[in-house]
This record gives sequence, C-alpha cells and structure tokens, in this order.
Amino acid sequence: MLMDQNTGGIEDLLFNKARTFNKWHERTVSDAQLHALYELVKMGPTSGNCLPARFYFVKSKEAKDRLAPALSRGNLEKTMTAPVTAIVAYDSEFYEKLPQLFPHADARSWFTSSPSLAEETAFRNSSLQGAYLILAARLIGLDAGPMSGFKSDVVDAAFFADTPIKSNFLVNLGYGDPSGNFDRLPRLAFEEAAAIL
Ligand SMILES: Cc1cc2nc3c(=O)[nH]c(=O)nc-3n(C[C@H](O)[C@H](O)[C@H](O)COP(=O)(O)O)c2cc1C
Repeated sequence: MLMDQNTGGIEDLLFNKARTFNKWHERTVSDAQLHALYELVKMGPTSGNCLPARFYFVKSKEAKDRLAPALSRGNLEKTMTAPVTAIVAYDSEFYEKLPQLFPHADARSWFTSSPSLAEETAFRNSSLQGAYLILAARLIGLDAGPMSGFKSDVVDAAFFADTPIKSNFLVNLGYGDPSGNFDRLPRLAFEEAAAIL
C-alpha cells in the first residue's frame, strides 16, 4: 500500500487499514529509506535506554541466499521476493553500551550480575523495537510482513557466528501487493482482552 493511496488518518495508516503483506511489488527500497526508518526506530523507548536490538537489512541476493535455508516453507517465497528482509536481532551483551546510553547510573552491573535478567531484558526490548520497526515502516510508506517461522539457530550460524548477536524475528519490507493478503482475522473485543482496574 502506498502512502499516497491512504486517505484516512494516521490511525488508518498505522493500524486500522494496515495489513501484514505476503506479496511484493517489484519496487526497490533504497538504503536512504532504511536509514530514515532506523532514525525513527531508534527513538522508541526501551528499558534503561538499553537499545538491545540490532537490525540487519538483508537486501543482496548473496545475503538472501544465506537466509533461505533458515526459512519455513510458507515463508520462503515471500521472503525471497521481498525487496528487503530485516533480521530483528539483539546484542546479548547490550549492557556493554550502557555507560554510553545510561550514564547516570552503573546500569551495566545490573546485567553482568544476572544473565537471566540480561536475556529477558534483551528479548523484551528488542521485540518492542521490532514493533517500532513495523509501525515506522508504515509511517514512511512501506509495508511490512513480520515472521517468526524460521530457525533462529540457522540464522545465527549463518550471520552471527562467534558474536553475541542473536536473531529474534524477521520482517519483510517493501511495497505490498494486497492480492497476496489473507482475509483480515478477527480481533478480541475490549472486554476479552483488557480491563480497567
Ligand atoms: C512476530 C510475528 C510473527 C509472525 N510470523 C509469521 C510467519 O512466520 N508466517 C506468516 O505467514 N505470518 C506471520 N505473521 C503474520 C501474522 O499472522 C499477521 O500479522 C496477523 O495474522 C495479522 O494480520 P493483519 O496484520 O493482516 O491483520 C507473524 C506476525 C508477527 C507479528
């Protein structure tokens, strides 16, 4: 969906009319667009400003071929044809940057003393940052197709061997062709999913 086709407000662009895309127009996404995307994503909040997510924009044929063996069968074609596939990953040693990112406290020590807290924090906040990526993509006129159907150990071996980086999920990015969309699925009503206490 192109931004100039959206006649509704920002709530339509980001939520009400936004869809998860499975099919892509043959229209490239520039490196400048990916930089613009990151400039928005980086501003989304994370606990203690820890910013654990790392984004790897898989664009070249060589990198796509490296990603392919990790994908579930249902995710293969849409990922190989997407202009870009973002690997939303996290740095499991994100706390090494806390003296820079959260300088007014010794936040690094909160995590070096508790590997389980470090892992939980990295996974929680990188997942949030992946959600910011989806919404920021929509805001700048791109479409997104998030995926968890892949083998993270295969991605990690292919892209992040001997590093502290681990994959969380994938997001195809480009200009979506709605002919590949599934029917919109129901959502839970407020009463089913929320409560005011
Ligand atoms: C974290 C995450 C993982 C997903 N994994 C897959 C996947 O592996 N394959 C797939 O076809 N769709 C996947 N989806 C797409 C969801 O099924 C889709 O976003 C949901 O049904 C809502 O669709 P809609 O945005 O078009 O309403 C995933 C979505 C998210 C957010």
